Amino acid sequence: MERALIILKPDAVQRGLVGPILSRIEQRGLKLQGLKLMQVSESLARTHYGEHEGKPFFNGLVGYITSAPVVVLVVAGKAGTIEMIRTMVGATNPAKAAPGTIRGDFGIEIGRNLIHASDSPESGEREVAIFFSPAELIADWGRVTDAWIYE
Ligand code: RTP
Ligand code: MG
Repeated sequence: MERALIILKPDAVQRGLVGPILSRIEQRGLKLQGLKLMQVSESLARTHYGEHEGKPFFNGLVGYITSAPVVVLVVAGKAGTIEMIRTMVGATNPAKAAPGTIRGDFGIEIGRNLIHASDSPESGEREVAIFFSPAELIADWGRVTDAWIYE
């Protein structure tokens, strides 16, 4: 199984888009393992986005993600899940994201691009561990629809 951390960023929460975005993830057949509303601290933001430290947009990015509550979730699926989620999310710049993607349907500017998704299985594991304690996750619940989603 692959696990991804997904963040519904402050603009998604403020704009009342948690439900519509979450629906797409559920309807696709991805399995939830964790879900919460939280305020990201500056130190958590800097750790999470550490790879971008020093880039011109870094301070704005930290300001954005800490500006209001976010909804964070852990979703799991078979190998290839993370690549599939990134396809659903769309290009980083919503203006260039394809229609049908989350960013392409709901966003306009790169600094208000609604959603974060882990970009590899390794970042998925790293990000899940910094946002969730093990006690907050239910890793192996029996979902009755699994046999109708996976062959
Ligand atoms: P994310 O990490 O949030 O899922 O987005 P991503 O992989 O598609 O894009 P990434 O390159 O990791 O950038 C992280 C976030 O930084 C903001 N950004 N702004 N102004 C800019 O040029 C710029 N570039 C990136 C975006 O909010 C992006 O999601
Ligand atoms: Mg990224």
